[in-house]
Amino acid sequence: MEALLNPDVAQACEYPGNESRMNWESTPFPVLTDAQFHQWQALLEDRTGMYISYYHRSLLQSNLIIRMREIACASFDDYYAKVCAKPSGIVEWNTLLDRVMVQETRFYRNPESMELFCEYLTDQIRRKSRNEAINIWSVGCSSGEEPYTLAMLCQQMLLKEKRALSNFGVTATDISLPVLSKAREGIYNVRKLVDLDRRLVDQYFEQLSPDIYRVGSELKQKVCFSMANMIDVDKSPLRNMDTIYCQNVLIYFRKELKHNILNSLVERLAPKGLLVIGQGEAVDWQNPHVERVQNNQTLAFIRRN
Ligand SMILES: C[S@@+](CC[C@H](N)C(=O)[O-])C[C@H]1O[C@@H](n2cnc3c(N)ncnc32)[C@H](O)[C@@H]1O
Repeated sequence: MEALLNPDVAQACEYPGNESRMNWESTPFPVLTDAQFHQWQALLEDRTGMYISYYHRSLLQSNLIIRMREIACASFDDYYAKVCAKPSGIVEWNTLLDRVMVQETRFYRNPESMELFCEYLTDQIRRKSRNEAINIWSVGCSSGEEPYTLAMLCQQMLLKEKRALSNFGVTATDISLPVLSKAREGIYNVRKLVDLDRRLVDQYFEQLSPDIYRVGSELKQKVCFSMANMIDVDKSPLRNMDTIYCQNVLIYFRKELKHNILNSLVERLAPKGLLVIGQGEAVDWQNPHVERVQNNQTLAFIRRN
């Protein structure tokens, strides 16, 4: 089963070998009661859409304990009250969110989806007049690898079609403020760049040290990061998107919410716009305004006119 909560943090808590590193006190770990589990489960789903099943209960417990230890909070109830306090709880809520969310991402993740994106982008570029811009939205963008990849590929396609290289923009949104600030910095270890074509690395990154690279300012200017919660996507001012790329986010939501979000994303697509979601993330969803792209490796839809 897909890891729902951040498993790295949980491991640090669960394995006794890590105790000295975490500097645990000798007090025993508290155990989430059923009532407490349901309280946290409801809070997380209500605020983020993320549904934590009973199967992930111990992972949730571990993630909470790690954070509670850091701030010397002894009980789940006290921590819950701290997170829910108004207005001060918002800071702790954002920290917790960053700890519990799975933020795994990669440059050029899911090559088949990226290839599909390039294929449809070529059509979109050809259909547009020279001064019409291409608009792309990366939903649940994490630390930036996905939107920067989309921006690099878009610029490459514009180059191929002999169009103005600046005539596009990528909007990248996420619920987590800490990942967004990492994304804006655009600084990555060389290990993160292994899936990228060497020519793209040379063209779009500057090397800060043997192991550290930074996204160049020209590419950075094309990507606009902002905080947005997908559960409020029906209120988003974004419209007329040529591509909406939403991979590895919807898996955490229950079916009804997932379908509502997808319907709202469709409303934000331009005619013939492309919606890319992760394979298997919404197999039973249908919407009369989109047509499924025939592709075995990627789940994608095109908006009808
Ligand atoms: C597993 S990462 C996927 C990153 C990227 N899309 C990819 O496929 O590589 C999931 C991201 O979705 C974000 N996320 C989860 N729930 C969200 C919500 N309700 N609104 C916006 N972003 C959310 C998380 O913060 C995390 O950065």
